[in-house]
Order: sequence, then structure tokens, then C-alpha cells
Amino acid sequence: MARQIRMGLIGHKFMGRAHSHALRDLPMFFDIGAEPVMQTLCGLEEDLEAAARRYGWASWTHSWREVVEDPRIDAISICTPGHTHCEIAVAACRAGKHVICEKPLALTLAEARRMLEAARSAGVKHAVNFNYRKAPAVALAHQLIREGHLGRIFLFHGFYFQDWPLDPEFPHVWRMDRSVAGAGSMADKGSHLLDLARFLVGEIAEVSAATEIYVKERPSAGGTRLPVTTDDAAVFTVRFSTGALGLFATSRMAAGHKNGLGFEVQGARGSLRFDLERLNELQVYLAGEPGATEGFRTVLATSPEHPYAGAWWPPGHVLGWEHTFVHQYVDFLRAVVDDTQVRPDFEDGMKAQAVLEAIETAARNRRWIQVEA
Ligand SMILES: NC(=O)c1ccc[n+]([C@@H]2O[C@H](COP(=O)([O-])OP(=O)(O)OC[C@H]3O[C@@H](n4cnc5c(N)ncnc54)[C@H](O)[C@@H]3O)[C@@H](O)[C@H]2O)c1
Repeated sequence: MARQIRMGLIGHKFMGRAHSHALRDLPMFFDIGAEPVMQTLCGLEEDLEAAARRYGWASWTHSWREVVEDPRIDAISICTPGHTHCEIAVAACRAGKHVICEKPLALTLAEARRMLEAARSAGVKHAVNFNYRKAPAVALAHQLIREGHLGRIFLFHGFYFQDWPLDPEFPHVWRMDRSVAGAGSMADKGSHLLDLARFLVGEIAEVSAATEIYVKERPSAGGTRLPVTTDDAAVFTVRFSTGALGLFATSRMAAGHKNGLGFEVQGARGSLRFDLERLNELQVYLAGEPGATEGFRTVLATSPEHPYAGAWWPPGHVLGWEHTFVHQYVDFLRAVVDDTQVRPDFEDGMKAQAVLEAIETAARNRRWIQVEA
């Protein structure tokens, strides 16, 4: 019988569902030398039992401590809001569980450091779910850059736009509360972009930034109005330690954009472009191609030679957003089985957090800030 890895998942709503789906799909397509067992689902709301039954979990509880302390459980997925990540992750590591945590890793750099330290001293595997690295087209971009096809990288341009609270009467939710979410679009969306920039270009050395809260108060469930304490939008420029430059914009008030993430990387010998709404495609321009037909080409990253793609369907049978979560679990659980390192890990999460903290300081002080090493 294949080795079993018993999972406990904390937070059963949006991400809890995406992670549950990934755990169910994974064994059908990937042979990782082990079988994930969906043991216990945890969440606070009353529909927990119905969700657990529907997603395929054997048991459920409202107490995350019960999950973390359960000796049957090998690995914990953290899918709760940011203010809970550190406490749950540290407790899970101390209980000897492998941990995969949603992004951004923590509320502060100090918390992220504590999480990394706890994972290292427990000797457990630790991953952060920057799932966009796991889209085959993005993993292909990384491969092309690493192999030198673009030459020296000059510039990264990234944006991440949504418009869910565009209506000023859209209710106050946890993402608008600094004590729960840490920051707004800058952290929620910016953390994904910063991870992609680090993945594709390298470490970020310094930042300048501006943020704005367009709607200062929102209606609460109790009938009052609550202050919005996280940014609606942010812009930031960065200098990478290689000397490359970066330009970023994030917003949750970007009319018409539902989940619009995109980036471009420009190098001395070529450029790459990616747009999440065309997730299977990578736009590739390599200098030196014939004059009359010179230009960006669309590569459909669904063939066996593309990262992750060969395990799925025949070429051209496209993948979706949810498949990035499956790939994340493939990498995480393989690391558990083979005792190898998984990326992105808590160190990647911590480094993204260091940049976020520098961006906040830069926006507050209106000047360039060095990122803490
Ligand atoms: N990787 C991605 O693309 C992506 C997308 C959306 C959200 N996220 C991240 O996932 C995390 C969760 O976001 P979401 O949108 O799923 O939130 P959500 O509001 O939909 O769900 C939060 C869940 O956490 C549970 N919870 C909260 N506090 C808890 C506690 N103390 N004990 C047990 N359960 C608790 C709630 O009951 C709920 O089930 C956040 O860190 C967010 O930034 C990542």
C-alpha cells in the first residue's frame, strides 16, 4: 500500500475549498509515491460539517488546536486570514507537522521570521502557497530565464487588479481590517507579484511606494460604518540587487478586472509576457528572429515538455486556475515523501514580507527604503 500522508486543513471557505479540490484531484493525475488522506477540516462557521462532507473530509472540528495536536495528522494546510497564520504555523511545527500556509505568510516580518525559525528547528517541510509560480506558463518563463534565453534582465512590470468592493456600499470585510489582514491590495495581491518577481528576476534591494484608501468607511453587518484601514490600491517601484528595475500596481478597485494578474519581463535578448486570464499561454519574444515576422509568439504551455503539463491531458487541452493548487501540493507532498526542499517555502514568504514591510515604510515616509536582508 502506498504511504499515506494524513492532512488537516484549517479554514474551510474560499481557499479551504481550493485546497480540498487540489488534494482530491492530485492522486488521479500525479504519482508522488504517497497518497494524501483528507483527515480533518476545521473552520468557524456553522456550515463546516456540510463543507467537510461535500469536499470529502473524514472528520471536522471548530478547534484548530485539536487538528494541530491530533497524532494521526502528518501535515497541516493553513487557509485562514493572515492574523492567525503565525500562531497556527508555529504550534503545528512544534507538534512535528509539515505545514503549507496561504499567502501572505504573516502579518509582519517579525511573525514570518518566527514561523521560519519554528519550521527549521522542528525539521519539518514548510511551503507558502504562492500558487502562480505553479502555472505551467509561469514555470516555463522561469525555465527560459534560468537557461539564459533573455540574457541580462532589465525590467519587471507586474499588475494585479480586482474590482470586488468597487461599490462604496460593499460591506466591510476582514480584508479591510489591518489587524486581521496586515495590509490591503498591496499585501493581498502584491505578495503574489513580489513572489513572481523574486522567482523570475531575483532579490529586491530597495523600494519606493504610494498607497491609497479610496473608500474610508464601509457598512458593517451590525448597521454601523467601520473604518477601512487597509489600502485599496498601491503602486511601487523597486530596484533588484542585480540592478534590474521593477514597476508594480495593485488594486481592488480596478473597474472591470475580476482577477487580472499580469507581468512582463524584459531582457537584453528577449521579453516574456503573461496574463492570468490566458493562463495557458506565454508570450515570447526572442531577438534575432526573422525581420518581417519578428514579434511576440504565443506558446501554449500544455505539452509534455512544459512543467507539470504532461501529467494532465493531451496538448491543447487547457488547464485552469485550480490546477496551480494541485501543482503546489505535488511539490509540497513530494518534498515530504522524498525529504527534499519545496519552494516557495517560509523563507520565500519571509523575504516577500520584508519587501512588503519596506513598501509600507516607503509609502508612509515618501522616500526610497532598503529592504531588510
Ligand atoms: N493563493 C491564493 O490565490 C489566495 C486567494 C485568496 C485568499 N488567499 C489567502 O488565503 C487565506 C484565507 O483567505 P480566504 O479568502 O479563503 O478567506 P475566507 O474568509 O473565505 O475563509 C477563512 C476561513 O478561515 C476560518 N477561520 C478564521 N479564523 C479561524 C480560527 N481562529 N480557527 C479556525 N478557522 C478559522 C474561517 O472559519 C473560514 O473558514 C488568506 O491568507 C488569504 O490571503 C490566497
